Amino acid sequence: MDVSVSGPFIGSMSVQAEFDEWAADDRDRGMERKHWHTAKDALAKMPVEAGETVLDLGTGSGYALRALRETREIGRGIGIDGSPEMVRNAREYTDDDRVSFVHGDFHRLPLADDSVDHFWSMEAFYYAREPLAVLREIERVLESGGTFFCGVNFFEESETTHEWQESIGVEMQLWDRKRYREAFREAGLYVSSQETIPDEETEIPPVEAFPTDSWESREAMVDRYRTWGTLLTVGVAP
Ligand SMILES: C[S@@+](CC[C@H](N)C(=O)[O-])C[C@H]1O[C@@H](n2cnc3c(N)ncnc32)[C@H](O)[C@@H]1O
Repeated sequence: MDVSVSGPFIGSMSVQAEFDEWAADDRDRGMERKHWHTAKDALAKMPVEAGETVLDLGTGSGYALRALRETREIGRGIGIDGSPEMVRNAREYTDDDRVSFVHGDFHRLPLADDSVDHFWSMEAFYYAREPLAVLREIERVLESGGTFFCGVNFFEESETTHEWQESIGVEMQLWDRKRYREAFREAGLYVSSQETIPDEETEIPPVEAFPTDSWESREAMVDRYRTWGTLLTVGVAP
């Protein structure tokens, strides 16, 4: 499929300021390592076929598209990110000319109607200023039968994540599972599945090690990683 990407893009200044700093600090690679624990299971469920086009919203280091190219032979991967520094880094991590990274805002996708086979987004959707507008953009650009795989670690039921907002300079949408399903439907997508994927890889120390620098109690850490992990909501375009 031929997808033309055009610019220029003007993203949110707070997204740019916040995540340019993360990229400069190497936190793009840090997120990649942590998010991979559950992202790999979600990616394995995507019904992508060889040759198809996948768009990654808030791509960060671009690891999801690199993995889909290497293991699933997608024809084209396009990563959009509001941080020019993230985009610069993501370009450096691959020399695959079937994967491209673009500075942009996922509220206004520079793509034609029905031009993308699947969308992926990990730990980025809740930064949307207008999440419903983003979902409508996805619905517009997705081919009929195409999917949107939306993974988030910050959500209402995962209570230990709520404090993240205090240390991040971008407003975050704290939705519960039902709100995700309702919003997908409001934007015209079917919800084909919703589940939580536990993170079984983050090491949780024995009870006597608590409190640690990051965690008050072992119980809280278990809640964050093993009980909740990543909320994956899958939408399908009609
Ligand atoms: C927490 S990082 C996650 C990166 C990557 N998906 C991962 O799993 O490691 C969120 C990313 O979303 C991007 N982002 C946030 N709001 C955005 C927007 N409105 N448009 C495009 N990118 C956005 C940020 O710049 C950042 O790189």
